[in-house]
Amino acid sequence: MGTNIICLCICALVIVHPVVLGDDEDDDPLPTFSTLTKMLWRKNDFAFRLYTSLSSLPEYQNKNIFFSPLSVSMALSALSLGAGGKTKEQLLWAIGHDSSVFNTEEVQKTFQSFLEEISQRRVDMDVGSALYVSNKSKPLPEFPEKMKQLHLPEGFAVDFHLNETLDKINTYVREKTNGKIDKVFEDLDANTMMILLTYIYFKGKWTMPFDPKFTHEAKFYVDAENTVPVQMMNQKGYIKIFHDTLISTKVLSLDYNNSYSLFLALPDKSLSDLEKVINRRDIERWRNVVWNSPVDIYVPKLSLKASYSLTDILKGMEMADIFTDEANFTGISKEKMFMSQVIHQAAFEVDEKGIETAYFGIDISKRQLPVYRFDRPFMIFIVDPINYNILFMGKIVNPVEK
Ligand SMILES: *[C@@H]1O[C@H](CO)[C@@H](O)[C@H](O)[C@H]1NC(C)=O
Ligand SMILES: *[C@@H]1O[C@H](CO)[C@@H](O)[C@H](O)[C@H]1NC(C)=O
Ligand SMILES: *[C@@H]1O[C@H](CO)[C@@H](O)[C@H](O)[C@H]1NC(C)=O
Ligand SMILES: *[C@@H]1O[C@H](CO)[C@@H](O)[C@H](O)[C@H]1NC(C)=O
Repeated sequence: MGTNIICLCICALVIVHPVVLGDDEDDDPLPTFSTLTKMLWRKNDFAFRLYTSLSSLPEYQNKNIFFSPLSVSMALSALSLGAGGKTKEQLLWAIGHDSSVFNTEEVQKTFQSFLEEISQRRVDMDVGSALYVSNKSKPLPEFPEKMKQLHLPEGFAVDFHLNETLDKINTYVREKTNGKIDKVFEDLDANTMMILLTYIYFKGKWTMPFDPKFTHEAKFYVDAENTVPVQMMNQKGYIKIFHDTLISTKVLSLDYNNSYSLFLALPDKSLSDLEKVINRRDIERWRNVVWNSPVDIYVPKLSLKASYSLTDILKGMEMADIFTDEANFTGISKEKMFMSQVIHQAAFEVDEKGIETAYFGIDISKRQLPVYRFDRPFMIFIVDPINYNILFMGKIVNPVEK
């Protein structure tokens, strides 16, 4: 009997999937995909929607953008545990979960196993989130425990009237990221009810390191008129590249100890052309088409930090209720509560260092090599090579922007 019920559920899932997902995968020849894969696709769609929202804001027009869609969607998904009714549905829907397809437990389990799995990988990465709730709203005693069980976010009841709360939040993130992110807030509004904070720091070691002796100062063309000096790394060898003629972009793929791949996408024409056409399917396609080929690559050293208030952006992404009286956070407190701010903090570094001390550079200097020179605005993606997850995404418009 029990087995029959399970079978029925599985069939229902299979039938429901293409309908609910509005399958834009129809033209893909591969027949079946796991629930996890579909979940990740939707997550990657969320990544692109978030990117488009961010980059359309006037303040980011000609600015670098980099953020971790994964960290944001994981935090929102954890927040949904404290939400009820329509608020919960909104949250899950916005990050790409349809409650008629995936139940909350499935979603949480996926994230949890993913987090456990990435913590095994040897890259210098800190990813996490924390939820700060005003203690005036008397959060339920079990709330922080509930959050901990899922590894994220950590939940804290704090008094936003106190200056020490500001220090507490800043110190928390500083410690979690080994000082890489040193300050989240300059000040806090005493009337704050709830703040969701997500952060990520990424710096990996290349499988094929760059030899520092080839690093040199070079010009980076910010736009037609302006250049800035950058430290340009250089490597010649058999490296994974691909000229994507579908979206007129040169793609370079560099690996971090086989744990993650960094894709750098250099548009043939302008960055805005690329931004208009690129979507998650291009990223998924690249994984299979980048090919080790003899090439001469130039990549600027990067050390970037950014802080984003996602409050207005999420309001525009079908999540408006969480910021109003309509919010239902009965899993956090019996009193009326809503979200005051959602903050995302990201830091990202790229330099020569690699796993091996020996440099793999092959002597192919005699040959005329194609050149991939990232000396003008380009896009970046850090992608999990095992599944399709976009861990990091952004654009580099000016590598030395403060
Ligand atoms: C809030 O969510 C809880 C749990 O899902 C539900 O029981 C309650 O009716 C909801 N409240 C409102 C006002 O929708
Ligand atoms: C690279 O990854 C392997 C396994 O994936 C691990 O054993 C090794 O320690 C990693 N190396 C570095 C330098 O992180
Ligand atoms: C909130 O926390 C502060 C500091 O821990 C404490 O002084 C205050 O009494 C608490 N307020 C409530 C309503 O629990
Ligand atoms: C908190 O900091 C502000 C500005 O730094 C100061 O004016 C205020 O007196 C401080 N409040 C407390 C309770 O320490």
